[in-house]
This record gives sequence, structure tokens and C-alpha cells, in this order.
Amino acid sequence: MKPLRKKLFVSFLLIMGLTLAGLVLVLAQLLPVYLEHEDERAAGEVVSLLGEKGISLDAADRAELEDRLAGIDPGTGKKKPPIGFLMTAAVVFAMAFIASGVLYYKMADRYVRPIDLVTGTVLDLAKGNYRARAEWGEAGIQVGLISAVNALARNLQDMESIREAESERLETLIGHMGSGLLMIGRDSEIAMANSFFLNQFDVREPALVGKSYKAAPLPASLIRLIDAVQIEERPRTEQMDISRSGGTGTMAVYAAPVINKNGGWLGIVVVMHDITELIRLERVRKDFVANVSHELRTPVTSIKGFSETLLDGAMYDTATAEQFLGIIHRESGRLETLIEDLLDLSRIEKEGFTLELKSVRVGDVLRQAIETVSGRLEEQNMKLSFHIADSLTVKADENRLVQVFVNLLANAAAYSKPGTGIRIEAIPDGNAASISIEDHGIGIPEEDLPRLFERFYRVDRARSRDSGGTGLGLAIVKHLVDLHGGSVQVQSTVGSGSVFIVRIPLA
Ligand SMILES: Nc1ncnc2c1ncn2[C@@H]1O[C@H](COP(=O)(O)OP(=O)(O)OP(=O)(O)O)[C@@H](O)[C@H]1O
Ligand SMILES: [Mg+2]
Repeated sequence: MKPLRKKLFVSFLLIMGLTLAGLVLVLAQLLPVYLEHEDERAAGEVVSLLGEKGISLDAADRAELEDRLAGIDPGTGKKKPPIGFLMTAAVVFAMAFIASGVLYYKMADRYVRPIDLVTGTVLDLAKGNYRARAEWGEAGIQVGLISAVNALARNLQDMESIREAESERLETLIGHMGSGLLMIGRDSEIAMANSFFLNQFDVREPALVGKSYKAAPLPASLIRLIDAVQIEERPRTEQMDISRSGGTGTMAVYAAPVINKNGGWLGIVVVMHDITELIRLERVRKDFVANVSHELRTPVTSIKGFSETLLDGAMYDTATAEQFLGIIHRESGRLETLIEDLLDLSRIEKEGFTLELKSVRVGDVLRQAIETVSGRLEEQNMKLSFHIADSLTVKADENRLVQVFVNLLANAAAYSKPGTGIRIEAIPDGNAASISIEDHGIGIPEEDLPRLFERFYRVDRARSRDSGGTGLGLAIVKHLVDLHGGSVQVQSTVGSGSVFIVRIPLA
């Protein structure tokens, strides 16, 4: 039985019991008086009947008659209890008690059970079970209450599913966003850190969440920033370098206090963006501008200097004039090459630059390249040896591929002693042609290899500049090979030579 019904039923039985007990008490008081009166009346009746029949009783007989009618034992002088009457009364009372109990139980079941049902449902709802419903098959007085509770439960369930969907969406958003997010509660404890943030510091969630930010395994600079925001109660932005497993990264960190409408302090939110790539690009841009200016300044200074000397009178000395003009001519040639290379590089790097791809025989490409640099090769008296697989064809832009090998062959000639050999090899390797240019020149130190394909990067600046180089050749090579979907690698030993291996997809 449900609590309310049980309570009401017990209370009812108690009240009923008490009422009946009261009734019994009253009856117990009134019964002897009534019985005595009845005995006297009956004795009177008997005496008058006997009188009518001609029998008269004296006082003693009359007293005995009364005693007998009253049920007083002549031997003991005590009155016999009215057992029959008492039994009947007890049965009547018991039946009345039971009947009213049953009747009440039925009533309670009808009117109170729905309330118990609704109470149970509301308690379930309070525990968070929004699927709970009050089931009631009968029509009746409490149907309105039951349907109201069920409507409330349905609304709660709908609200809960909306809340769940929203929190799931928010969790996914925070978890997958490309920025770090850290939330600190009003008690300075870390309430939340998203996966980006955790990954940056190589920590797991339990190491942060629930801990005071001051004791968390976070960089001192970040803790200082949060401290400052807590003291000043205003947002702050800082750029900080952090060391992580993949090397040092630069972060733009924004920390702001979270304050509610009434000015109450709720905590601090920290948002962190990885700007490592941005910083690198900025450095590349600055380096590029510095490099270009530097490269341009050298020939321009020299042209200016020699032309000034000529104007100052040297032009009247034919031999000197010829020598100086020769230098001016050479330097302006260098300027032209530099500008052409820069323009070429910017053209290649420009978005939308496309190659004119077609089937090209590797042999033809290499022959054209050698022809282009033949002057320089002869100057250096280089000895060429070939090993080119027959009919090796690649998918390439012929002119651009020639440009790649012209650069590599020119380098091989420029950075080798005269009279040494260059070996050219082209063989199929999987789904690509592997073309290598090997020289026996000065070689490249290992520490320079990773940066070799950067714009303006030169191993030995003085020597390279003497050779007329700008440091853009290999940058152009790398770009062009990448655009072909290929790759370029270099192996080198200082003093014994280098080999550049270009892979271009087969046609
Ligand atoms: N075959 C090689 N042997 C030794 N060093 C080389 C070789 N090829 C390139 N290098 C080194 O790499 C640097 C970069 O080469 P890259 O071709 O990009 O520029 P460069 O030859 O100096 O100028 P250019 O733009 O005129 O080609 C060179 O300065 C040189 O130090
Ligand atoms: Mg070069």
C-alpha cells in the first residue's frame, strides 16, 4: 500500500476505533440503568397480572420476583451478566468496525490512489527520470491531475532532450575547435580544458581539471597572465612561446574575467590560438624583403660606383673605361637575372599557376638542358656521362622541366672544380622516373641540407655570389618539382660531391 493511502487508512481505523470505544463506554454506563428500569417494569407487569388472576404477592415475594427477573442468583445474591446481550453487541460493533474499514478502504483506493500515483511520478521526475508517467486507466475525479502531471513530465523530457542536444553540440564544438580553451571557476579551480589546450601542454584532463590553476602543470608565463587578470579584473592578451613535443610554438593567449550581470565574479576564461605558422610566415616575409634588398644593393652599388668613377674622368682612359663598362655590364646582367628569377618565382608561386602537362621524353628534356648550359660546362671543362633509360616518358611541362635540370646542371658546374665529371642518370622507379645529377664538387655540409631549397639560401655566400648565384635556383627547382607532383632530394658529402635526385610521375 502506498504511504498516503496507508496513513489515511490507519488514521481512519483509529478514529473509528475510538468512536466505537466511546460508544461502548456510554452504553456501558446506560445499560444497567436501563436494565434495572426494565426489571422493575416487568415485575410490575407480573404483579398486576397475578393480581388480576387473584394472586397477591407480599413484599418479600415481590422482591424475590424482581431479583429473579433481574437475573440475581438467589444463592450468591449476585447478578448474572447479560452474556447474550453483550455478545450480540460485540458482534454488531465488530461488524460495524470491519464494514466501515472496508468501505473506507474502497473510498481511499478510489480517491487517494491517483494522488499516490502522481506523488510517485513527481518523485521519479525529481530524480531525473523524465520518462516517468502516471498510468491511470479509469475515468474519475483525479484524471485532470494525472494528465497535468504527465504533460509536465513530457515537457520536462522535451526540455531535457533539447538541453542534452545543445550540451552535446557545445561539447563537440569546444572539443574540436582549432583553439585552446581553459575555464577557471570562481574558486580558482580549473573547470574545463579542451583537447587542443591539453595537447599543447601534453597533459591529460585529470592533471588539470579540479586543480587550482596555480598548482597545475602549466607554463609560469600563463599562470602569471591569469594572476594578472584576476588582480586587475580586465582582459589581457599576450604572445607566448611554449615548448611542446613538436618543438617550440608561439601562442596568442587571451585571458578575460567572466563577470555576471550583477557584477559577480564567475571565473576566468583563457583562449589560445596557435600563431606559430603566422610568425614563421612573417619572418619569411621579412627575410625575403631583407634578402632582396641586399641582393639588389650589391650590383647597384657596384654599377653606381664604377659609373661615378667613369664620370669623374676615367672614361677618357679607354682601357679603364672598357674595363669599368665591362663590370657595369656584368653587374647589370646579374641584376637582370635576379629580377627575372624573382619574377619567375613569383609567377610559379602565384595561385592559379598551371603547368602544361603532357607526355615528355626524359632524354629530350635532359638534352635540351645540357645544350642550354653547354657554354658553362665547356668553360669548366666538365665531363658528362649519361645513363638514361630508353623511352622513359613522364607527365610534365617540358619547358619547366628543362628549367629544373638547367638549374641543377649549372649548380653542378658552378660548385665543382674544373675538369671533374657529372653523371646523369634517369631510371624508372615505381610509378615515377628517378633522375639524378651527380657531381664531384665541393659538397654541402649536412647542417645546410634542410634549408637548401629556401629562397636566397646559400651555403657559402661569398663563393656563391662570385659564381653569379642569387640563391633562388633551388627554390625554383623545388617549386616546379612540387607542382609536377614529384619530389627532389639531395645527398652530399663535403669534399667529394653531391647528388640531386628528382622524381617525376611517369606518363
Ligand atoms: N651541386 C652543388 N654542390 C655544392 N653546393 C651546391 C650545389 N648546388 C647548390 N649548392 C649550394 O646551394 C646554394 C643554393 O643553390 P641555388 O641554386 O639555389 O643558388 P645559387 O646557385 O647560389 O644561385 P642561382 O639562383 O643563380 O642558382 C648554393 O649557393 C650553393 O651553396
Ligand atoms: Mg644555382
